[in-house]
Amino acid sequence: MNDKIQHLLDEIRKASALNADEVEQIRLKFLSKKGLISVLFDEFKTVPAEKKREVGLLLNDLKSKAQERIDELKARFDGVEEKAAAGLDLTRPVVNSQPGTRHPLSVVRNQIIDIFARIGFTVAEGPEIEDDWHNFGALNFAADHPARDMQDTFFISTNPEILLRTHTSSVQIRTMEESSPPLRMIFPGRVFRNEAISARAHCIFHQVEGLYIARNVSFADLKQTLLYFAKEMFGEQTQIRLRPSYFPFTEPSGEMDVSCLICGGKGCNICKYSGWVEILGCGMVNPAVLENCGIDPDEYTGFAFGMGIERITMLKYQIKDLRLFFENDVRFLKQFTGAL
Ligand code: DAH
Repeated sequence: MNDKIQHLLDEIRKASALNADEVEQIRLKFLSKKGLISVLFDEFKTVPAEKKREVGLLLNDLKSKAQERIDELKARFDGVEEKAAAGLDLTRPVVNSQPGTRHPLSVVRNQIIDIFARIGFTVAEGPEIEDDWHNFGALNFAADHPARDMQDTFFISTNPEILLRTHTSSVQIRTMEESSPPLRMIFPGRVFRNEAISARAHCIFHQVEGLYIARNVSFADLKQTLLYFAKEMFGEQTQIRLRPSYFPFTEPSGEMDVSCLICGGKGCNICKYSGWVEILGCGMVNPAVLENCGIDPDEYTGFAFGMGIERITMLKYQIKDLRLFFENDVRFLKQFTGAL
């Protein structure tokens, strides 16, 4: 009996079929009422009582293995006929499909997130449709202050209090309103300005904002953080310089240049023969902004910075026309295969 079971087990393992009809033949051969396994179950009655347990187990195992094998074969032909009728030939060789590539702006955004994550910055996002308070008011832009002209804004015509955010600085405000210091975060996102589209400007682009609020944060901390970032992003040889600037939400404010990565500082058309390229705005968070968000400026200080992802990407990959980012031309996009 044991030999017979073993023999059928081998046979069922090797069973194969070319179509659904053949699978049905296999099922009939083994599992139908008069099939080989059913016959063994009849013979089981003659097995001596002391052997019944052992043989019974083997027999049940054989039956379930047979059922499994048949189900497996059946699954191979499921729907094949319908597909063939619909003109699909499943036997044709597979066409080698091209894997997609990440967009260069996503590559660089991920690099920026990664660089800051290594020194403890976490990531948050905020809404693209903003109110005047988060985009301007809380950031210390007075209602009729000319600084608003720095950013040509898309307002919603039916409600001038609502606009498309012009910068990711709005997410600083939302974060400070919702959580208390210490805060060490970056805010990547899409921003909108009413700019004529050219090789250097677009009405939609991307920024990363950074914010660090804690006790005793100083300008030296800001400078060291930005130096670390510049070296990680553009290479160890990179130098930075800070120039005084003006933003209503930081005091003092600065703009940071990096030494030109194309000519190394000697002068070329990318750096307009100055040896330096501007990459971001930054400064110490204005105490008025902290107060607007319910943070005590006598207890806490902090720094902030904001950069354009398009600009960093153009520099890093020497891309000369910003419009390429938005055209979805695969000849451009596929060059970033293998990037992060
Ligand atoms: N929000 C500024 C812009 O879009 C960039 C900026 C400048 C952000 C200075 C900052 C900062 O956080 O401190 O032009």
